[in-house]
Amino acid sequence: MGISIKSEREIELMRESCRLLTIVHKEMEEAIRPGMSTMDIDILGDKTIRKLGCIPNFKNYHGYPASICVSVNDEVVHGIPNKKRILQEGDIVSLDAGLIYKGFHSDAARTHGVGEISPEAKKLIEVTKQSFFEGIKMAKEGNHLHDISNAIDAYVRQFGYGIVREMVGHGIGTKLHEDPQIPNFAQLRRGPKLRAGMTLAIEPMINMGRADVEWLDDDWTVVTEDGSLSAHYENTVLITDGEPEILTLY
Ligand code: MF3
Ligand code: CO
Repeated sequence: MGISIKSEREIELMRESCRLLTIVHKEMEEAIRPGMSTMDIDILGDKTIRKLGCIPNFKNYHGYPASICVSVNDEVVHGIPNKKRILQEGDIVSLDAGLIYKGFHSDAARTHGVGEISPEAKKLIEVTKQSFFEGIKMAKEGNHLHDISNAIDAYVRQFGYGIVREMVGHGIGTKLHEDPQIPNFAQLRRGPKLRAGMTLAIEPMINMGRADVEWLDDDWTVVTEDGSLSAHYENTVLITDGEPEILTLY
């Protein structure tokens, strides 16, 4: 299929799709507090996406039943919002959200603390976020895709955390998932050459303990096998001939 290169017009639409998504993330972040359910977050995110005139791209994607993935503590990704799952002080919660604006997809994830959280949890969230920034230092035209993967791996490895291997980042555009796949762990091959106009969703998922994950019986929720905490940080990024443009940053 190959990696699509977006035209200037398509890049403008990607920028706007991503800008609107930052509003959704901001609304959700500001609403987080102990006592709210994971369903409350989905309702707020869904409402905000639609108020902006956009479509939630996760809803019904391969049957996923909600608009926002809400993953608590040892849940890595794809947690299904539930009105009985109540956030408690000290929890960490990963919010993964995306939308479609004029046919163009955006995708971003953040992990937040609920109230006061442990120093260990804070560090996991910080390292996960920083690993993304280490990765995109390599994200420029002429470098190779796996330079990003290798940089994320090299950074995270120092902390002894587990890098999730089963799920990876991806190209994004008129589809949520386009070529290429973007692993967050070291690769033997260099991968395709990066070119200006590629739009990529780069999304390290990092476990405080071992890297291994398993699926719950709902067939969606991914959890750490050892029960350790997990964090997620994702942005949609535009490759240019200079510094990459992080389109979903606010
Ligand atoms: N951000 C996720 C991804 O990049 C999307 C969630 S998949 C869904 O793959 F099915 F839950 F929508
Ligand atoms: Co993604």
